[in-house]
Amino acid sequence: MAQAAPKEGFKVVVVGSANVDLEVQVPRWPDPGESVVATASARFPGGKGANQAVAAAKAGGASTALIGAWGPDADATLVKELLEDAGVDTASVRTVDCPTGMAIVMVDPAGANVVTVVTGANSRLELTEADLERIANSRVVLAQLEIPLPVVAQAAAAAQAADAIFVLNAAPAGESLPTELLKNVDVLVLSQRLARNLAKQHFGMYPSDDASLLRVLQNLVPSVVMTKGWKGSVVAQAGQDAEVVHALPVEPVDHTGAGDTFNGVLAARLADGAALGEATRAATAAASISLGRPGAGPSIPTAREVAVALATGQVPPAA
Ligand code: RIB
Repeated sequence: MAQAAPKEGFKVVVVGSANVDLEVQVPRWPDPGESVVATASARFPGGKGANQAVAAAKAGGASTALIGAWGPDADATLVKELLEDAGVDTASVRTVDCPTGMAIVMVDPAGANVVTVVTGANSRLELTEADLERIANSRVVLAQLEIPLPVVAQAAAAAQAADAIFVLNAAPAGESLPTELLKNVDVLVLSQRLARNLAKQHFGMYPSDDASLLRVLQNLVPSVVMTKGWKGSVVAQAGQDAEVVHALPVEPVDHTGAGDTFNGVLAARLADGAALGEATRAATAAASISLGRPGAGPSIPTAREVAVALATGQVPPAA
């Protein structure tokens, strides 16, 4: 992958969703038809696009803009505040006639989550000429799959045409990804489950070891990063052996937003000219910090916290 080229616009443009998360702590998962009593509840700003934009902006050095859609409601204000406090430009987030997206998040005592997303305004996102110009003028474009797939494909094509690095975080992970879209992806960030599915669909099998699995997927996309939650990540780029990056030791409190932290920091580091391996190490450290904190948006660490984590190999206490 070529290094990010200097451009006159934002270093990172995120094309993605904005949600409010209604998060409830449950003592255990309810069975179908059963009710359980939550031990706590909270509303957090979230959405994969917004979280990733916040993570990129907080990573330091990377001016960041979000392209998205929200509704004419108080939920939009909650997400906007999180974005703007982190320094994310929200001029390209339009207000549409539909409620802001929402996620119902159940978190168990081990920090694992189950998420249901109501896409709301996110499903109305369409790219304008001004959006395409912002994409063309950026170094790195980062998208996920909580917005319409044609919009993701259009952003990818625009990024490629302008020599911006296009990073696709394939989340929420479906069973597959369109081949036409993959052709315009420079860095694919995905789960082990989707990695195996893609290998099986395209090549009829998947190797059981991670390095070989990623090597197979590099026939589709030049650089692949597989995230493995609290176990860390594996990164593969052209001409180099796959590298395993271990997560930092942490007691998980809430998995929500850890993947978004990873992707935002990865994009910011790439935009600053870091190589993919170095960017993945910073992203993995940042995601480890997020795992030990509640909520999605509010769990995203600062650049300083990530620097301390990288230097010490330990997750710093929350400020
Ligand atoms: O990745 C976490 C995010 O996914 C949450 O903030 C929630 O909004 C869902 O979109």
